[in-house]
Amino acid sequence: MKQSLNRRNMLKTGLLSLGGMALAPHIAKGAFENAPFKLDSQNRLFYSPLNREYFVDTKEVELLAKLNANENPYGPPESAKKAVIDSVAGGNRYAWREMYELVGKIAEKENVTPKHIMMGPGSSDLLEKVALVRFMNGGNLVSADPTYMSLIRVAERVGATWKPVPCTEDWSHNLDAMEKAIDSDTKLVYICNPNNPVGAMTPAKDLEAFCKRVSKKVPIFIDEAYMELAYGPDAVTMSPLVTEGHNVIVCRTFSKIMGMAGLRIGFMLAQPEFVDEISSVTRGGMGISLTSIHAATAAYGDQEFQETTKVKNDEAKKYVLAELKAMGYDPIPSYTNFMIFPIEMEGKAFLSKMQDKGVGVRAFNIMDKNWCRVSMGTMDEMKIFVSAIKSIS
Ligand SMILES: Cc1ncc(COP(=O)(O)O)c(C=O)c1O
Repeated sequence: MKQSLNRRNMLKTGLLSLGGMALAPHIAKGAFENAPFKLDSQNRLFYSPLNREYFVDTKEVELLAKLNANENPYGPPESAKKAVIDSVAGGNRYAWREMYELVGKIAEKENVTPKHIMMGPGSSDLLEKVALVRFMNGGNLVSADPTYMSLIRVAERVGATWKPVPCTEDWSHNLDAMEKAIDSDTKLVYICNPNNPVGAMTPAKDLEAFCKRVSKKVPIFIDEAYMELAYGPDAVTMSPLVTEGHNVIVCRTFSKIMGMAGLRIGFMLAQPEFVDEISSVTRGGMGISLTSIHAATAAYGDQEFQETTKVKNDEAKKYVLAELKAMGYDPIPSYTNFMIFPIEMEGKAFLSKMQDKGVGVRAFNIMDKNWCRVSMGTMDEMKIFVSAIKSIS
């Protein structure tokens, strides 16, 4: 029997209290705080028939290694910290001019005009606004399953029908099946690339061809939250398609490679008509503070910090991959700052044991298997993770 997890229940279970937030941060602190959440008969968060998430009740523990929200352990960059301090005195004024300057820098780098850009306090804000506006009169949404649920959850709450399409065997998007799932009522295709929670990348050539063809019928929203962390021939942004005039939306965040998750800033690139449609209901940039704009401007130009993050993230991944393989685990190759691998243990017991060792990770049940998703922290944190998992296995 499915139950609803409303705010009162969440408080009872501790999900909204501090430890709970650490274990399910996107849920407990996210935009859905007041929205009902479905639980399945085993008390797992129900995302789709293929994808559920375990959570554990609060324990007052100070985590030694917080590896549960795909944050950047090295941020914010020194350049951004300085920018916050230097700009805070101007906080009595709206930051329109500063925003205009940041948008100008993004436009220049991404080869679009300022009219192609919508800013948001984090990319979650843009995912949600697009869902809200695009689906306020119904329609359906096509995406992979599993995938990142922010946009989908809001779309469903305002009345959209979600058409989940299972990933391929190598966990990339099944673009053929997604194209077949589109019908005359489809208002948006959501593609998370690389995809959270699986970490896989969809081949760039296939995705580009899909976007060019399918965006003639329906807008394609590409969430590239982790793209800047990826290596290899498929680590290719789809932003040139926006420049070329295709009805493609590319969403980016300052939370990952730029280490500013708590400073809340992100942007999307889209055709000006699409930006106008979303802006006709809700303004993107108004939720961003002056200090975050200054921090973002500094971080955006801080190539050294971004490169260091990318290299250290890769080192951490290589270390964790080797250790997990030596223990007999089989992680999905990751293009992101997290890694997911099947575990034998029941998810809730696993989370609890890891938490007892001071390690915060996430546990899912995907296609009837239990999985651990671990974010990359510093090398010291990853050693704590490895020793914790060794000791509980
Ligand atoms: C795929 C994806 N998109 C968007 C976000 C939201 O990030 P933010 O709102 O911090 O920009 C996340 C956060 O983890 C994510 O994993």
